[in-house]
Amino acid sequence: MTDLNHLEHDLLNQVEAAGDEAALETVRVSALGKKGSVSELLKTLGAMTPEERKERGPLINGLRDKVQTAIVAKKETLAEAALDARLSAERVDVTLPVQEGPETRGRIHPISQVIEELTAIFADMGFSVAEGPDVETDYLNFTALNFPVGHPAREMHDTFFLAPDEKGERKVLRTHTSPVQIRTMTSQKPPIRVIIPGRTYRHDSDQTHTPMFHQVEGLVIDKQANIAHLKWILEEFCKTFFEVDQVKMRFRPSFFPFTEPSAEVDIQCSRKGGEIRFGEGEDWLEILGCGMVHPNVLRNCGLDPDEYQGFAWGMGIDRIAMLKYGMPDLRPFFEADVRWLNHYGFRPLDIPSLVGGLTS
Ligand code: DAH
Repeated sequence: MTDLNHLEHDLLNQVEAAGDEAALETVRVSALGKKGSVSELLKTLGAMTPEERKERGPLINGLRDKVQTAIVAKKETLAEAALDARLSAERVDVTLPVQEGPETRGRIHPISQVIEELTAIFADMGFSVAEGPDVETDYLNFTALNFPVGHPAREMHDTFFLAPDEKGERKVLRTHTSPVQIRTMTSQKPPIRVIIPGRTYRHDSDQTHTPMFHQVEGLVIDKQANIAHLKWILEEFCKTFFEVDQVKMRFRPSFFPFTEPSAEVDIQCSRKGGEIRFGEGEDWLEILGCGMVHPNVLRNCGLDPDEYQGFAWGMGIDRIAMLKYGMPDLRPFFEADVRWLNHYGFRPLDIPSLVGGLTS
């Protein structure tokens, strides 16, 4: 066996024996690198006589080609083997249950969910959302809403008063969302179409009352808004919110200082078997108060009652949440018990919309 045959045999064996791409690279450098064994042989060609070169040249070049081809082939085999190993190591069993990430583990509180739902419903009817502070002046919570000073209606609200400020003025925790009606009418020009969801406070606590609770106020002011519009809006809202085709509503005459005429609204329901259903049955459930905005309230906001008119309503959010989702007790709403929230809460990525569905 000649030297060249020897070297070829040796190099091809080394190529074959290389276990990974790094080992193969070492072999390549030792043969074809600048100082590699084959490269050194190629360098000797220059010093040969033409006859010698004629004979040795094709042999040495042939050796280089063979080694190069073997390295390329081996490289491919190694890459394939590496890919196979990775594929089998990273195989995913699609029949395994999906593990939930942290973004799906949290829960949305039913109150937040219901506020999202009713915002979606009223937004579809062209309402925007207005807000006001929880700590309110006595003037906006009562006086501007046509509660005469010393009127017993103020007592009915079980108001939480704050300590008097330096001017002797006692602020209150707003007892209803109605003061935001005044804030809206004094800061926007009619036509006005807003809903006002928010926290409200009264000194009251039992199974269906908590000192802090939530209301959503509605207000429409323009030149011809009337009680028929009010009825339609409330009926459409109830059908969409309770997800039923029909609702029966009863408007009972009532009294609020800031509306004239005023009504309380009941919806018909059945309570057979301890389960509430709407759109059927013989029972009535009170869900809101409403009426035509009192001319004095319009005047207090600088609006001329001979030019503008409108209606308003106030609804208990906690109440309608309890009714819709069958929660018998209001107090746990505000106890921050994770077990309760896991049970009654909503998935964060199920955002209510009229198109995608309010609840899924
Ligand atoms: N603010 C009233 C309450 O808390 C509810 C209410 C009644 C609001 C009639 C209204 C309305 O806007 O027109 O008892």
